[in-house]
Amino acid sequence: MARFQPALALDKLVDGWVVGASVDGFLLAFYLVDGQPYCTSDLCTHEASLLSDGGYVEGEEVECPYHGARFNIRTGEVTGPPAIAPLRVFAVEVRDGRVYVAID
Ligand code: FES
Repeated sequence: MARFQPALALDKLVDGWVVGASVDGFLLAFYLVDGQPYCTSDLCTHEASLLSDGGYVEGEEVECPYHGARFNIRTGEVTGPPAIAPLRVFAVEVRDGRVYVAID
């Protein structure tokens, strides 16, 4: 069963930006899309580069800064090559101004 872990303050997230955080040993990427927080693995599925290391966010897509793979932030699905495998996505919730992420 998933355990919600505190990750970061909600006010660290800004639309159009990706923020990396390590939670319970997982390298995670956090986003704000239309005011709603989302979380994916921070590791691009192409060659494991960090999406938070300069990744470009447009709408609900994140583009890897290394070779340009694109992923849907909400679902993790690949929306542009060269990645093939989807990103893992994690459930989030907000409590008292902090973002919690479900780790299982
Ligand atoms: S490492 Fe992300 S596209 Fe290559």
